[in-house]
Amino acid sequence: MHQFSPDPAWSKAELHSGLLEAADAITAGESDAIANMANVAALIWQFLPDLNWGGFYRAIGGELVLGPFCGLPACIRIPLGSGVCGTAAASGATQIVPDVQAFPGHIACDAASRSELVVPVIRSGEVIAVIDLDSPIPARFDAEDAAGIEALARLLASRI
Ligand code: SME
Repeated sequence: MHQFSPDPAWSKAELHSGLLEAADAITAGESDAIANMANVAALIWQFLPDLNWGGFYRAIGGELVLGPFCGLPACIRIPLGSGVCGTAAASGATQIVPDVQAFPGHIACDAASRSELVVPVIRSGEVIAVIDLDSPIPARFDAEDAAGIEALARLLASRI
């Protein structure tokens, strides 16, 4: 059994460093990508407050395909360039979206979502997946969240 106990009183920086440390510990030495994404999706859910969706889309055959996540059932396939996830995957750039309704082409998988953060996972210069976080709170994600999830993406690049 793996036990990680984030304290809700932790600062955002402490939550992100705790998440990174836990993700490192739980994926170290495990080569199965699905197992690692599944555990990291669970850790994201456990460590980061105010999410209604958190997980992975994988880049497969020129589109994004739903991977392990926590939250409501979601859209399965997203064309590269579509929505927030497809934009992050096509550009290789993190997307911080304070108001999803103002993002052209946003794909609503859960009507409760108000803001979103999508970070590409890049291996050998190629986007292999994206990490997608949704929140029911407007402007939930800032540059500190982006930096935290980018560090997680770098850790996972060789483990998923
Ligand atoms: N909102 C995303 C789609 C994925 S769901 O949020 C889980 C988008 O616009 O790409």
